[in-house]
Amino acid sequence: MRVVFYCPWANAETWLSELRACAPEFTFVAWPELDDSAPIEAAVVWRPPAGMLRQLPNLRVVCVMGAGVDYLFGPGIEPPDVPIVRLVDPVMTERMASYVLAAILYHQRQLGRYRAQQAQRVWRQSMHKDTSEVRVGIMGLGAMGRASAALLGAVGYDVAGWSRRPTSLAGVRCYAGRDQWRPFLARSDVLVCLLPLTPATRGILSRATFDALPEGAVVINAARGEHLIEADLIAALDAGRLAGAVLDVFSIEPLPEDHPLWRDPRVLITPHVASLSNPASGAAQIAAALRAIRAGRAPAHLVDRDDYLQAAPREASV
Ligand SMILES: NC(=O)c1ccc[n+]([C@@H]2O[C@H](COP(=O)([O-])OP(=O)(O)OC[C@H]3O[C@@H](n4cnc5c(N)ncnc54)[C@H](OP(=O)(O)O)[C@@H]3O)[C@@H](O)[C@H]2O)c1
Repeated sequence: MRVVFYCPWANAETWLSELRACAPEFTFVAWPELDDSAPIEAAVVWRPPAGMLRQLPNLRVVCVMGAGVDYLFGPGIEPPDVPIVRLVDPVMTERMASYVLAAILYHQRQLGRYRAQQAQRVWRQSMHKDTSEVRVGIMGLGAMGRASAALLGAVGYDVAGWSRRPTSLAGVRCYAGRDQWRPFLARSDVLVCLLPLTPATRGILSRATFDALPEGAVVINAARGEHLIEADLIAALDAGRLAGAVLDVFSIEPLPEDHPLWRDPRVLITPHVASLSNPASGAAQIAAALRAIRAGRAPAHLVDRDDYLQAAPREASV
């Protein structure tokens, strides 16, 4: 089986070597260096160029080299009607959980303030909340949300989560659906977005959401930039409703040089690094998916494309 590979990341060569080592029975060819020797039956991609997948009429599966698949449903991509598989990787979930913990600690222990004081050689102590007093609310209790909830709970935070369907998790207060959205927000001193980007969740970090949080809450977005309405965030920070934010993702990446968020001392910016995909463990998962397809079995971690194609009004809106 021939597999086309497209990856715009700097470590694309590492990925290709890992894939070839993990799945030597498949032939990997890098896009666009195709020849006509045999049809391409699978694609391993991240952010494929517009029209690429439609030029591959024999595709049987698309494997995405990350946890989020929203880019596949962007303008001009038109994923063919074949199974789409995403990464659900323990290495990545651990990376996300440690990012969320670090982001919470940054604000809880006021590290930004002390960094600024250091620059001025100022010795001034400030009080902070103890860990058990900090109520964290995680939007999305999937692979990333669950791992983050488990780590935060183990450290001693008061953790709640919100998902689409009711679920239960040891040590986590679980909320679900529109009816429980406001009660969930009302107890979230720190709101962490780990939702997939779909028509139902786009723009969910909005003024209405910020207004429903406790005064002085902190927002962490490590999901997708389009979850956040940036102007609403800046207005909520200016009004004092929010104390700060940690943002890993942006609607335009890289964040443009003249963007006001760069200069905002209340916001910590990281360049989409919360949970980078890991070539070794990711390639092993992709190899398993390709083998499942070749054997006529359903691979694990299939994407429900209806979640991404619905033009429905926001289920999650308040
Ligand atoms: N910044 C980074 O480096 C980075 C890295 C990896 C991933 N990510 C982002 O993290 C996202 C989450 O990844 P994951 O693997 O945890 O996804 P996942 O396993 O699919 O989990 C999604 C969670 O969101 C909930 N959800 C989906 N739609 C919802 C809605 N309309 N209302 C309320 N809850 C909803 C789901 O609830 P149900 O189970 O009830 O449907 C589930 O709990 C990815 O899509 C990606 O965008 C970012």
